[in-house]
Amino acid sequence: MIGTGLAVYVDYGAMVNRIACRFVLISTNSSSPLFCGTEMSLKVYIAGELVDKADAKVSVFDHGFLYGDGVFEGIRVYNGRVFLMDEHIARLYESALAIRLEIPLSPAEMIEAVNKTVVANGITEGYVRLVISRGAGTLGLDIRRTSNPQVIIIADTISLYPPEMYRDGLKVITASTIRNHAGALSPRIKSLNYLNNILAKIEATDTGCIEALMLNAQGEVAECTGDNIFIVKDGVLKTPPPEAGILEGITRGAVMGLAKQAGLAVQEVAMVRHDIYIADECFLTGTAAEVIPVVDLDGRKIGSGTPGPVTKDLLERFQTLKTGG
Ligand SMILES: Cc1ncc(COP(=O)(O)O)c(C=O)c1O
Repeated sequence: MIGTGLAVYVDYGAMVNRIACRFVLISTNSSSPLFCGTEMSLKVYIAGELVDKADAKVSVFDHGFLYGDGVFEGIRVYNGRVFLMDEHIARLYESALAIRLEIPLSPAEMIEAVNKTVVANGITEGYVRLVISRGAGTLGLDIRRTSNPQVIIIADTISLYPPEMYRDGLKVITASTIRNHAGALSPRIKSLNYLNNILAKIEATDTGCIEALMLNAQGEVAECTGDNIFIVKDGVLKTPPPEAGILEGITRGAVMGLAKQAGLAVQEVAMVRHDIYIADECFLTGTAAEVIPVVDLDGRKIGSGTPGPVTKDLLERFQTLKTGG
């Protein structure tokens, strides 16, 4: 009966996960939508507390909202484990340092808050979005007139790209929007200001692609709007170096490690579009995308036009890594 479920919820204090909620509904045959609605509500970490999604609010004077002044991370949860947590937390604090934003939690406290939010939402396979905004201030840009940087943690599920994209590979176009110049806003900072990427993404979706390749101001290959890029040429795995103006992806780092373990030569090297056109294989890496093959750039078939053997092998190795194997 519903009272039993409710007693469990209250007695143990914590939020019952969504699976448990479903169980309660089925077992009680209850017509009360309120009970499930309450438990199923996403709990967002904000101002040091877990609150219902509807109550998770920031000031309209927050410079994160007014100017995109803040930093963020996107992290996967696999098998109830926050994947590559230390690497993501390290990058978060590096991004914050670069924009002179002092995060009001220590890295250890941040890790604890992330874990708490994941558990509170019953997430075993999902995605964590960590946002640190500058805090509320005046309408001017002066960071000295802001206070209370906000730490927001959202733990939710994530919808994967359709399986056929992993099987058949993606078609990608080169965007005319160039990647931010590192001397203006370094792409190594994972800042809340993603307009550069969004403008390129619009170009991709306008042509029916889900990703666009972005070049830097020198015309070299940088990265995609939300993913790093790799090619395989003559048995060597190549990816642009940080100086090309990229976010140093955590997945990129993990895949480079897997490739080295597999005995592949790995090079961080400047490339131009032509190098991608004539590659044997190409793939992208990212927290959301994981490892996804690319089979076409700007209407040029890459290699055989199907995902290549190195890509497939690395994809498989990544699947093992993420599940703790
Ligand atoms: C611009 C950009 N490049 C690369 C990546 C891939 O980085 P990661 O593997 O850390 O998710 C992302 C996603 O976070 C991104 O937004």
